[in-house]
Amino acid sequence: MELVDGKSTIVTGSASGIGEATAKLFAEQGANVVVADVSVDEGKQTVAEIEEAGGTATFVETNVAKPSDVEAMIETAVGEYGQLDVLHNNAGIEGQVAKIADQSVDGFDDVVDINLKGVWLGMKFGVEAMLENENGGTIVSTSSIGGVSGIPTYSVYGATKAGVSLMTKTVANEYAAENIRANAVAPGIVETEMVTRVLEEDPEQEQAFLEMEPMPGLAQPEEIAKAVLFLASDLASRVTGVTLPVEGGKLA
Ligand SMILES: NC(=O)c1ccc[n+]([C@@H]2O[C@H](COP(=O)([O-])OP(=O)(O)OC[C@H]3O[C@@H](n4cnc5c(N)ncnc54)[C@H](O)[C@@H]3O)[C@@H](O)[C@H]2O)c1
Repeated sequence: MELVDGKSTIVTGSASGIGEATAKLFAEQGANVVVADVSVDEGKQTVAEIEEAGGTATFVETNVAKPSDVEAMIETAVGEYGQLDVLHNNAGIEGQVAKIADQSVDGFDDVVDINLKGVWLGMKFGVEAMLENENGGTIVSTSSIGGVSGIPTYSVYGATKAGVSLMTKTVANEYAAENIRANAVAPGIVETEMVTRVLEEDPEQEQAFLEMEPMPGLAQPEEIAKAVLFLASDLASRVTGVTLPVEGGKLA
């Protein structure tokens, strides 16, 4: 059984990491996938790899913080694949990793624009498109355990991710009657370029990362993608408004 067979889907931030793994898994599970990212070469590479594996995908250069880009991204899904069924709001940046007194004022806006406004724009224009569907649609956004507990050096990042989880609850309530579900995943530490960047800046965090989750090692992006697929699919037909922790037991 293919879990998103024939669905029109968008994955933001799918040139790399969790988004790339989710775009590939959606395609494997029968979906048509819009790969949306600021990173053009890597995004086109994701599409090429999906097509080589027999899937269907298209790339659209998108800055999720820019309203006109997000509208164009949604229009691409509707234009290419008929409608929009599934939106994975995943693009995000870590920003400056430092305690609050050591952070510069400059970095604040970028993190909020991409991680919070970007998800708001996706939800706004995504819901508008899904309201045209006979059977609603589903939104899955990428939050973080940094949005659940106050992890030192991630004050702005964590605040945006808590915002993503709250926005998810609000949208779930607003559109439950129209059968539009909104959920989120909260990964712990996932072995992606984001973590590589953080460790390049501060190699001493490696041990703390490895010990953060009770389950051994770091999560792989494909493990987060499987949780996104569950929430996006009919397996989760009665699940809305939740942020699903995918963090090897850290919050337990
Ligand atoms: N890696 C982790 O440990 C971890 C943990 C919890 C949550 N997350 C979240 O998972 C999501 C994916 O992160 P990742 O770890 O795969 O990182 P990543 O850096 O590997 O991938 C992020 C992708 O987002 C894209 N992107 C960045 N800014 C963008 C913008 N303005 N518009 C469109 N695309 C943009 C990048 O080009 C990149 O392809 C993020 O929201 C991140 O906050 C990651």
